[in-house]
Amino acid sequence: MDKYNIIIVTGGLGFIGKHFVRRCLELGCFVKNYDNVSYAADLRIKAEFDAHENYIHFQTDIATLNFLPECDALVNFAAESHVDNAITSNRKFCETNFLGVQNLLELVRSKQEAERPLFVQISTDEVYGDITAGQHSENDKLIPSNPYSATKASADMLVKSWGRTYDVPWRIVRPTNNYGCHQYPEKLIPKSAWRMRRGLPAIMHGDGSYIRSWLHVDDTVDAVLTVIEKGAPNQIYNVGSNIELRNIEVLRAIAKHLDVPEEKAWHPIGDRSGQDVRYSLDDSRLRALGWEPKRRFFDELPEIVDTFDYRRFI
Ligand SMILES: NC(=O)c1ccc[n+]([C@@H]2O[C@H](COP(=O)([O-])OP(=O)(O)OC[C@H]3O[C@@H](n4cnc5c(N)ncnc54)[C@H](O)[C@@H]3O)[C@@H](O)[C@H]2O)c1
Repeated sequence: MDKYNIIIVTGGLGFIGKHFVRRCLELGCFVKNYDNVSYAADLRIKAEFDAHENYIHFQTDIATLNFLPECDALVNFAAESHVDNAITSNRKFCETNFLGVQNLLELVRSKQEAERPLFVQISTDEVYGDITAGQHSENDKLIPSNPYSATKASADMLVKSWGRTYDVPWRIVRPTNNYGCHQYPEKLIPKSAWRMRRGLPAIMHGDGSYIRSWLHVDDTVDAVLTVIEKGAPNQIYNVGSNIELRNIEVLRAIAKHLDVPEEKAWHPIGDRSGQDVRYSLDDSRLRALGWEPKRRFFDELPEIVDTFDYRRFI
């Protein structure tokens, strides 16, 4: 990362952000992490990072931050990220995911043109809405289905318009569903594993037939670094995966690993409101830069199920 030595990360105590921060520190970068330490922040990782001499954390909200120090790239992971929460209560999603991005873009714009860092927005495959067959490419229309994906799609529009109107240099990364160790236990894999361990059935939306692509968090980190180092100016990159699974297949794999009989492993509830049936990304643009997913879902799952942090369960 020669050209990108000083990195500002936002949301660097969250699931994907912390894996990115750790990798940047391993690469010898200086990392400034702006994370307001919401419920989703990992306090155990915070202690590990705080001890690193190339790292500093500021407990700040991206929507109210009023100063941006010198840096080579700003990578925005900070977000309200859980769709179920957005369905129940969506204001915070607008404040962080939309107004937070507007504020960060303004901070970049306030710098002299030559001093502006590269603005990297971590978006999501959910901005396209669902697709029953085929794959979404970067030029497809954004048709978000729920308040979470609507705020993420709106943020992408802000980024593109700040690029065109104010010459803010940007790249947008749209990863699919991430999995990996130490994810906050509101998400499908850790939540289901936790419930099955306690003798409770996992909660399954609808009949479990919804399809998700699964991307290991370290593959996402590789993708973001590839986009920063090799990506074209003002370009969007989808990040797909090497596996698509129905939710019921994920639950079946967790149950098998924990030796829970299938009839006790999950309990169907109604459909999630606005549920997306399937996401799938054409990520050939990113693969042309030399990236491909390396981790395999069924090889990684046992460690993920076995190593979650009980202290974070609520
Ligand atoms: N997890 C996935 O499967 C996935 C898939 C595609 C895209 N994404 C995107 O990747 C990014 C990271 O997702 P994640 O799963 O790591 O999220 P997460 O919920 O695990 O972590 C979010 C982090 O951001 C911080 N944060 C929240 N609001 C903030 C604010 N206003 N100011 C400063 N910090 C704030 C939290 O404290 C937390 O540490 C998000 O933008 C999300 O939309 C996630």
